[in-house]
Amino acid sequence: MNRQLTEKDIIDMSYVDFLALLNETNRPPGGKDSVRRIAINSFIDSNSRVLHSGCNTGYCSFEIVHLVKCNVVAIDINKNMVLAAKNKLKLEPNLFKKKFSFQVGDAHKLKFKSDSFDLVFSGGSTAFMSDPSRVVREYKKVCKPYGFVGDMCLFYKKLPPTNLLNKVNKLLNIKIKHWGKEYWLSLYNNEDLELYYDYTNDMPYDPTNKKIREYSKKMVELSLDNYPNNVKRVAVEKLFEYMTLFNKNNKYLSYCVLLFRKDISRKQISLFGK
Ligand SMILES: C[S@@+](CC[C@H](N)C(=O)[O-])C[C@H]1O[C@@H](n2cnc3c(N)ncnc32)[C@H](O)[C@@H]1O
Repeated sequence: MNRQLTEKDIIDMSYVDFLALLNETNRPPGGKDSVRRIAINSFIDSNSRVLHSGCNTGYCSFEIVHLVKCNVVAIDINKNMVLAAKNKLKLEPNLFKKKFSFQVGDAHKLKFKSDSFDLVFSGGSTAFMSDPSRVVREYKKVCKPYGFVGDMCLFYKKLPPTNLLNKVNKLLNIKIKHWGKEYWLSLYNNEDLELYYDYTNDMPYDPTNKKIREYSKKMVELSLDNYPNNVKRVAVEKLFEYMTLFNKNNKYLSYCVLLFRKDISRKQISLFGK
């Protein structure tokens, strides 16, 4: 949109469009720390080939390349997200540019050779896909023998009130049905992937809402600086409302960083330790 937006435009704007307007980076649960855990515990190096599934604007792709200097193929089903990632790529130092390939693609039908990636991971995007079991089968197919499949998964440690859950579902336009960590573990275990690393933590929760107000003002200042004050005020309120809802939801949420190994040997069960 080239014309400057009005108060009504901001009010009517969808969640996704609004966050795109504010240049909000879609971070995975646990942010940088989760990417670091995936990078370190999958033993990848600068020669490794990595697939980032549901990459959005590429937050995890950039982060993992900056850490390890590995080669990343990143896919998203939404071409606007891939375009946004490619635009960010233009700002990368030349040294890194050749390390990335951002592509439009559907994780349900990966168009890559079998056994071709050292690490296949999602920064929580598997939750947004319509058939997660099929997606995990695809992850496993393209992962090399003894390579790793990773995910960063949100789960409810206790059930939230139904009206809160309904509001979150409506806002994100998804139907959250995965209640516990068990769901994620069995999704990957069912494809005969071996759980190799498991880190769990609670989502941050701010009981005062103070930080949310400050964050909302700062985000709008940074992205809509040249807009009239009335439009900026509406944008601050809209962002504050969204983030307050997420903050309430966070009180009930934990996340886990999981790595599974594609073990192709005949497994032996073990009584003490793995
Ligand atoms: C909410 S974002 C999460 C991004 C994550 N935090 C990250 O940093 O990698 C979920 C992304 O998954 C993408 N997505 C949904 N279904 C997909 C599919 N079938 N194949 C590939 N990407 C998909 C969406 O377009 C969206 O960009």
